[in-house]
Amino acid sequence: MEALAVTAVAPVNIAVIKYWGKRNVELNLPTNSSISVTLSTDDLRAITSVAVSPQFSEDLFWLNGELQNLIGSKHINCVNILRKERALLEAADPGLKKLSNWKIRIISENNFPTAAGLASSAAGYAALVFSISKLFELDLNQTELSKVARVGSGSSSRSLFGGYVAWQAGNLENGDDSVAVEVAPVSHWPNMRALVLVISAGKKSVSSTGGMQRTVGTSTLFPARHLKIVPERMSQMEDAIRAKDFGSFAKLTMCDSNQFHAVCLDSYPPILYLNDTSRAVISFVHYFNEYYGAVKLAYTFDAGPNAVLYFLEEDSAQVLSCLKPVLPAAKIPFEVDEGPSGFCFDAMD
Ligand code: PMV
Repeated sequence: MEALAVTAVAPVNIAVIKYWGKRNVELNLPTNSSISVTLSTDDLRAITSVAVSPQFSEDLFWLNGELQNLIGSKHINCVNILRKERALLEAADPGLKKLSNWKIRIISENNFPTAAGLASSAAGYAALVFSISKLFELDLNQTELSKVARVGSGSSSRSLFGGYVAWQAGNLENGDDSVAVEVAPVSHWPNMRALVLVISAGKKSVSSTGGMQRTVGTSTLFPARHLKIVPERMSQMEDAIRAKDFGSFAKLTMCDSNQFHAVCLDSYPPILYLNDTSRAVISFVHYFNEYYGAVKLAYTFDAGPNAVLYFLEEDSAQVLSCLKPVLPAAKIPFEVDEGPSGFCFDAMD
């Protein structure tokens, strides 16, 4: 059988200024810009293999070993955008194989809980888009690819880059300016560390899309957040990252997580992602910072109860010793990651 295949690995990213709210649900255009840190691929990543062949009779997709329905899915929307890009190349160079007409098989695995508020879709769509772009030999940079991944899951646009990443909300109706850009590479601030406290590996109670629509439609606090507060925080956070000012980075991260959960609580019916253990983590972090007389530790929570803690390598012994009773033995904090990587192979027999 003639076939071409690529495997790619993409990391998760955890937002420090949260994306919450869509102005266009179909294109995943956000109501506000956001910033994230891309985390180590070894511990928290999606690995995706894609193959095309003239012998395949239909498009197929397995996620964590289970066959998924591709019809009308966001996954096939991303595939089709990239097929169009490939068709442009094929039209310009008739010598190229007509891969845009071949059916595709996609196999994707996450090594962490899927849909548990741990950014699984972010890594998944980034790996999908990155692997297909390599398979089709497309000449698209990370920002251009982020636009395609965004259509699958908004936050995945940020996983196309390593380091510190902003997703600019943009103004255009077609989403052409709603893209991810690098704020700073890993090398700029390499001693950032993160710990993920998996409080519950269950599926989230309200999907992020459903939750965002409820907040946009019902929260009276939300307009102040997305029109005034987030734009101010975006530039403060970029400044904190550029200046490697951990105290400001941590404070902004915690305030933004708290405000995101506040607009969730202000939605009707309220959306409650945090649980008692999450709240105990919040109290612990503030107690820790007070005890050491400096803001050395930050928490943030996505659409679920699981905590992500940010701190610097130089403080990691203090953080780990305090968390020892609740952490598995020899837990090593995540480092900031370089971004997706992939490799290609031809399969013929
Ligand atoms: O892109 P989605 O649908 O997975 O939404 C993610 C939203 C948050 O994780 C809660 C915040 C963010 O910016 O990642």
